[in-house]
Amino acid sequence: MPYSHLTFDVADRIATITVNRPDKLNALNDSLMSELGDAITEARGRGDVGGVLLTGAGRAFVAGADIAELAGQNAVEGKARAERGQRTFRLFETSPKPTIAAVNGFALGGGCELAMACHIRIASDKAQFGQPEVKLGIVPGYGGSQRLPRLVGKGRALELLLTGDMIDAAEALRIGLVNRVVTADALIETTRAMLTTMLAQGPLAVAQCIEAVDRGLDMGLDDAIALEASYFGMLSATQDKAEGMIAFLEKRPAKFTGS
Ligand code: COA
Repeated sequence: MPYSHLTFDVADRIATITVNRPDKLNALNDSLMSELGDAITEARGRGDVGGVLLTGAGRAFVAGADIAELAGQNAVEGKARAERGQRTFRLFETSPKPTIAAVNGFALGGGCELAMACHIRIASDKAQFGQPEVKLGIVPGYGGSQRLPRLVGKGRALELLLTGDMIDAAEALRIGLVNRVVTADALIETTRAMLTTMLAQGPLAVAQCIEAVDRGLDMGLDDAIALEASYFGMLSATQDKAEGMIAFLEKRPAKFTGS
C-alpha cells in the first residue's frame, strides 16, 4: 500500500514502520493517524510479517498530535478524534504479532501514548518523554491517562501528567516507562535483535502471551488465571507445541509453523 507520511518496509519478517513527517517532528495529523492504522493493519494481515518495529524519522519519534489541527476542533470533533486515535493505537496493542517502539527522539503527548500502546519500548539515549497536554489546557486523548499509570504507577504517572514535564531516557528507564536504553547508533539493531528472538518462538504462543497479558490485566486474578489455563490447554493441541517439545528432547532448534 502506498503511504505519504510514513514508510513501510519488510525485511526478515520484520515490518518497519517509520513515521515520516520530520519537518513537524512527526506530529500526528489526521491523515498520518489514518495511515498508521492502515500500516498496522497491513502488518497484522501479511503472512510475510511476524513483528513490527515502529520508529520516527529525524529527531523525533512523534512530538504529539498535530496542535494545528487540535486548535480548531470543537467538543464533538475532539471526542471523535480521540476515539479514532484510541482505536488506531489499540491495533498496535492487540496485535498478535509483537510491536516494539524504537524511540529515537521526542515521544511527547500522542507520541508517548503511541509508544505505550506498543508491547515494548526501546529508547535511544537521546529520547525524551512527556505528556504535556496540560500545558495546552487538555488531557491526553489517545490513552495516556490510562496506560501511563498502568506502566509506571499512579504517583509517577500523575507527576508527569500534572506537570507536563519532559523526562530523559534514563529517567524513563528508572520508572519503567521503557524496557531498555541504548545508544542512538544501536537503537534499530537492538530492536531488530529483540524482534528476531521473538520471531524464533512459537507464533501462536507469542500471540497468546500478548492476549493473556492484555486481557488479563483488566480482570480479577481468578478470572485472569482461568483465562491463562484455557490458553495453556488450547496450545497443547497445536503442532507447534508438539514440535517445540520434541525439538527440546531431540536437542535441536524447533521449527515452528504457527499451526
Ligand atoms: N503539532 C504540530 N506541530 C508541531 C508539533 C505538534 N505537536 N510539535 C512540533 N511541531 C512543529 C513546530 O511547530 C515546528 O514547525 P515550524 O518549523 O513550521 O514552526 C516544527 O515542528 C519543529 O518544532 P520546534 O518547536 O521548532 O522544535 P524545538 O526543537 O524548538 O522544540 C519540542 C521541540 C518538541 C519541545 C516542541 O516542538 C514542542 O513542544 N512540541 C509540542 C509538544 C506537545 O505539546 N505535544 C502534545 C500535543 S497534544
